[in-house]
Formats: sequence, C-alpha cells, structure tokens
Amino acid sequence: MTKGTFPIDKFGSINTPFYYYDVELLEKTLNTIKAEAGKYGYEAHYAVKANANASLLKIISAAGLGADCVSGGEVEAAINAGFPASKIVFAGVGKTDWEINLALDHDIFCFNAESLPELEVINELAGAKGKKARIELRVNPNVDAHTHHYITTGLNENKFGFSLDDLNDVIDKVIALKNLEFVGLHFHIGSQITDLSCYEDLCVKINELQDELEKRGIQLKNINIGGGLGINYEHPNHMPIADFESYFRLFNKHLKLRAGQTLHCEPGRSVVAQCGSLITKVTYVKKGKEKQFAIVDAGMTDLIRPALYDAYHRIENISSDLAEQTYDVVGPICESSDVFQKGCSLNETKRGDYLALRSAGAYGEIMASRYNLRKLPGSVLSTEI
Ligand code: LLP
Repeated sequence: MTKGTFPIDKFGSINTPFYYYDVELLEKTLNTIKAEAGKYGYEAHYAVKANANASLLKIISAAGLGADCVSGGEVEAAINAGFPASKIVFAGVGKTDWEINLALDHDIFCFNAESLPELEVINELAGAKGKKARIELRVNPNVDAHTHHYITTGLNENKFGFSLDDLNDVIDKVIALKNLEFVGLHFHIGSQITDLSCYEDLCVKINELQDELEKRGIQLKNINIGGGLGINYEHPNHMPIADFESYFRLFNKHLKLRAGQTLHCEPGRSVVAQCGSLITKVTYVKKGKEKQFAIVDAGMTDLIRPALYDAYHRIENISSDLAEQTYDVVGPICESSDVFQKGCSLNETKRGDYLALRSAGAYGEIMASRYNLRKLPGSVLSTEI
C-alpha cells in the first residue's frame, strides 16, 4: 500500500480538521489539461463550485484557465482571483437580478441560459445598461451519464436546460431579443463520469443538432460540453491525474466542430479532487461489542459527500505503520449518517493519530457547513508549510 506523502511532522501547529492541498499535483494536473486541451485548441473553464479556496483559484487562474461560475459570489471570487472576465461563463437555473447585473458590469464571456423567463430578464437588464449579453443556451440532451442520480443532470427529468423539443422556438426567441447575442450551445450531462462512452452519445446528439442548425443557417461560435470527467476515488495514488488525454481525444474524434467554432469545457472535480485531503485527528478509539470505532474530529460538516451521496473516500492512517485492523470511521455529529466509512482497514489506530481522507479537494471544503455550531475546517497548501 502506498501512502500519500504528507509532511506530518509539520502538522502539529495546525488545528484539525483541515484541508491539505498538494500544490505540485495541482500544477501537474493543470499542465496536463493545458497540454491536452491545447492540442485541439479547446478552452477549459474551471468549475469554481468544486472548490473556491482563494489560494487555489489564484493558482488555477495563473495557469490560464477560465472560470465557470454559478452564482454572483463565484463571479466575484473568480474576478478577485485574477480570472479575466473574458474567460468567465455564468450558468445556473436561478440567476437573480443582482447576479446578472454584476456579470453584465464585468462584461463576462457569456451567460449559459436555462429558461425563457431568464432570457427575457437578461435581455431587459442588458438593455437598461445599453449592452448586448452573449448567450449560450443550455440544452438538456437527454443523455444518461450513468452516475449517481443526485449528480445526473442531462436527463429530461432534470431541472436543467432547454429540452431538445423546445429548442427551435427558444432559438427564435433568443434571436428576436435585441439585447442578446446568441453565441453557442451549452451541455452538461452529469458529474463523476467514468464511462467515457456517455460523451460519445453526447457528441452524436450535438452533431445532429448542429446539422439542424446549419439547415436554418445558424452558425455558432461556441460549443460548451460542460464538466463531469470522473476521478479514481479507490486508488488516488495510482491515478492522481484524470485521463484528460482520452477525454479530449474523444471529442476531437467524435464531435464535428464547424469552421471557426471553439469547444469549451468546464472541469471541476478532475482539476482539484486529487490534490486535496481532509486531515483529521482521532479523538477516541471506542471498542463496541462487535466493532471498533475510530471517532475523528472531522464530521459530515467538513466533508459531506459520504453522508449525502454515500460517496467513498479512501482513508489512511498517516501516523501509524502497525498491522491493519478494521474500524468504522465516524465523526462527532449527532446524526447517524455522520459516518465516513464502515469496515475500513486502517493501520492500528490510537487517539491522536492523523487520518487522511483522500480525493477530497473537490466538493469538500466548499460544501462545509456550521451545523452543530462547529468551526469551518481550515486549509493549508503544501507550499505554505
Ligand atoms: N458545469 C456544470 C454546468 C455543472 O453543473 C457542473 C457540476 C460542472 C460543470 C462541473 O462538473 P465536474 O467536472 O466537477 O463533474 N457535489 C457533487 C457534485 C455536483 C456537481 C454539480 N455540477 C459531488 O460532491 O459529487
């Protein structure tokens, strides 16, 4: 078993639980994305929702990625971290007026719009500022991403985007609204996608759609394929960087981009998940009748994915090399779902040991809450200690 390399001798002065980010791995991941997307002239916008830690955002913007935002708060965070407004896309089914105005004031790259009433409001607010808002229409392609039902987004039953059946009428409308410029189509079929063939299905749908649009004489500048590329939660050390090479190659092979068209994507998890671990200390080892529990100082408030999605995060005792035993690793919160893992094999564990919950850089720190009036988890970059 390979353990991650954690500078545990330097952890003593840091309050647990905290997120530890391996900057070297993040930078390697960013270089891989740039190289693989760059082969085909594709543009990547980092999905800020995965992790909006200000230090990480600065590293990601310095690497030259754009930002995919879903709230005014994320647009502000992206701007503050140095992402150029010309590389910011703004999605979400419920954009409010102040959020739209903020994005208009910054002259962001485009709005990914999801409903007719939203188009009307963006048109009105842009008109009031004497501006034209660039619009990509989010299309719900009815492609099954074969992932957890909470994070499948591209099916007809989901609330996201326009259905293919309505698209022609919606396009008429967006063209008629004079403060809007129709610049592209946006898709996102789900998250943690490990079966890349779903993306082939998406390409087929997009190609068909583009043929239809061509018949109508409509030429678009952008095709945005969303995010979703999955990572290896079971073996974070074997595959620390997601297979961006196959991912982008697939689109190059199967998606027929038209002349002058640019492909945009919005990876979140695959950018930041593997560089982050939640570091927690064992408060007590409690021997039950049939099992033993490692009760740690992190809880579902610090990393909600196991409780919310039944998600697996590999757990390692980074303080111990003793023979392995089996534990239920649980948090201190008064909820029976506050369990990180049942039947987890750990090197023999005692009070005060550090455990690392791996692959927690995405949808970890950002989804933390103060339930039970707990403190929010801190964060430390490998370059800071
Ligand atoms: N673009 C859009 C429109 C999205 O809705 C999402 C994620 C992304 C991009 C980024 O997807 P990614 O590359 O990260 O898969 N909290 C859940 C994940 C929710 C994902 C929501 N949308 C989790 O912890 O697994």
